Amino acid sequence: MKVTWLGHACCLLEGGGSKILIDPFLTGNPQAKVTAEQVEADFIVLTHGHADHYGDTTEIAKRTGATVIGNFEVVNWAQAQGVEKTHPMHIGGGHDFSFGRVKLTIAHHGSSMPDGSYGGNPAGLLFTIDDKKIYHSGDTALFYDMTLIGEAGIDLAILPIGDNFTMGPDDSLKAIEFLQPKKVIPIHYNTWPLIEQDADAWASRITKADALVLQPGDSADI
Ligand code: NI
Ligand code: MN
Repeated sequence: MKVTWLGHACCLLEGGGSKILIDPFLTGNPQAKVTAEQVEADFIVLTHGHADHYGDTTEIAKRTGATVIGNFEVVNWAQAQGVEKTHPMHIGGGHDFSFGRVKLTIAHHGSSMPDGSYGGNPAGLLFTIDDKKIYHSGDTALFYDMTLIGEAGIDLAILPIGDNFTMGPDDSLKAIEFLQPKKVIPIHYNTWPLIEQDADAWASRITKADALVLQPGDSADI
């Protein structure tokens, strides 16, 4: 399992014989190290409808033929934009795909689509790929039920630390206590001045997990 952080909340998972792209906000993302025209994907998995997450989904799915996975409302919206291969899910539900399993978990946030239409409820993503459990929380506040998600035995947690729109550094440290992941990657920070954070200072406060502070474009083996 290889994980590449492409900036903001966008991550590329390579495992289970597939390239799985999460929240592909590349155009307009000042951190992006790859363009929407270059990135490869067999599947695109979305946490919610906000433009900094839905991003280039339509264009990438049309070019690559990737299947778009997400909540029912987000996926219907993608279909209305002309995306052909889609798989709707909803919170609490899991499904076995060719590459592994995806389960949608709760997240405390909003989820309008880029045009302002309804985007259902926001989600977190729990992946099981090549016997590894990867939790991408999406945009969310801290919530105590992360303890329950952690009972799955998380190999890697991908968590926002940017504050303002999501958990900040202090709450994400609490999230790590609840989730007890082996490794953690911080995301959703330093994209804009409003969510500037010192990720190294944050990482130095983590004692029970291995903090992987990546630069956009960097990869880690899980
Ligand atoms: Ni959001
Ligand atoms: Mn966001």
